[in-house]
Amino acid sequence: LTNTPFSVRMPVPPVLQPVVSTNDVDIYRIDIRHTNLEILPGVSTPTFTYGNQLVGPTIRAKTGRRVLIRYNNLLNRPTNVHLHGGHVEADNDGHPMELIQPGQTRWYNYPNRQQGATLWYHDHSHHTEAENVYRGLHGFYLIDDDSERGLRLPRGDYDVPIMIRDALFDADGAMLFGGNPAERNVILANGKPQPYFPVAARKYRFRLLNGATERTFNLSLGGEEMTQIASDGGLLPAPVPRTGIRLSSAERVEIVVDFSRYPVGTQLVLSDGATPVLRFDVVRQAADSSQVPDLLRALPVLPAATVNRNVTLSFDIAAFPPVGLVDGKTYDPNRADLQVKRGSTEIWTITNGDGQFGFPHNFHMHLVQFQVLDRDGQPPSLDDAGRKDTVLIPAGTSVRVKAHFTDYLGRYVYHCHFLEHSSLGMMAQMEIVP
Ligand code: C2O
Ligand code: CU
Repeated sequence: LTNTPFSVRMPVPPVLQPVVSTNDVDIYRIDIRHTNLEILPGVSTPTFTYGNQLVGPTIRAKTGRRVLIRYNNLLNRPTNVHLHGGHVEADNDGHPMELIQPGQTRWYNYPNRQQGATLWYHDHSHHTEAENVYRGLHGFYLIDDDSERGLRLPRGDYDVPIMIRDALFDADGAMLFGGNPAERNVILANGKPQPYFPVAARKYRFRLLNGATERTFNLSLGGEEMTQIASDGGLLPAPVPRTGIRLSSAERVEIVVDFSRYPVGTQLVLSDGATPVLRFDVVRQAADSSQVPDLLRALPVLPAATVNRNVTLSFDIAAFPPVGLVDGKTYDPNRADLQVKRGSTEIWTITNGDGQFGFPHNFHMHLVQFQVLDRDGQPPSLDDAGRKDTVLIPAGTSVRVKAHFTDYLGRYVYHCHFLEHSSLGMMAQMEIVP
């Protein structure tokens, strides 16, 4: 099935209310279930959902306030939950082998001892993360902090998370999984196909997430300015005017768009290359006391690195299906591939070893936000700015990143976040040791 653009309105995922709040903890419950949803107009599509919509309910956390979430797995298959971009204890990180079996529940404990940022939660089950995320196990987890609040960026109804992803539908409306991801021809914004979104003629903060399992979006707004204020791990030092943004799977970018530059009646299309993603319709005037200050938040200064490592991502395509490799080895949940000393700062050079085949990869590290130092020895691009947890690594290229490992011990994975690749084993494990 295909889609007629701009025939449905983009929803904003509802903010989940805690079942209990105490002085310092918010407690939530989320059911994970099979749900039939109308994604394409007039067609029913079986999905897996957090709650009952394709983009799960948004958790709004605050820096310094703990969040506990009780997940209840009503699916007929195991799942688990990873907080992507979260700085959490290993036990609560959603390790691929720590699964919630059908009919079981499990608690996750998130301390939120990190600055404001756009995080997201998704399935991370061993070998099945790509399918489970593709079928709908993804949602936003936004951390707010007080210093960010003082900046007077657009808030409330004018602070809108938008998950962009793709899907392929068969004639009955089922989402097809397992074929070539490049054939996924329907683009969804917050779970609706190429929707429209009415806006007021004022500034909006949009938190864009690439929720596609294997895709890179090249986003533009018809040449109009999108003011980037944040990347994966929170605010940039200063706003950056952008007209094009490259976003690979799992990356986030926050932009402010000032619709007061356009008369009521204007329509602006956010597109991926030539393909429309979402249309903003300027429908009314509105007061606006928000601003984008010239200075946002300085990046942390990381200590000098004492360890340098090389990590190579590749496929063994002699095997069928191909086997994903990190440093020549496929993922083994029982093996620690490297040890990192707690308190250390490391520089990792991550190489895409599939230059001759032209496969892009990307790289995501759990536990930390890193800084991109360079790409093939050249200065990083604007897409690499700020605190990052995921970066694109085009075929045959390499990226150097620097990370500081502060407090938690234990095993954390790092992997290609094209989830079809990690599901085939392009994942490895580091062990943080005292
Ligand atoms: Cu977004 Cu290891 O995951
Ligand atoms: Cu990959």
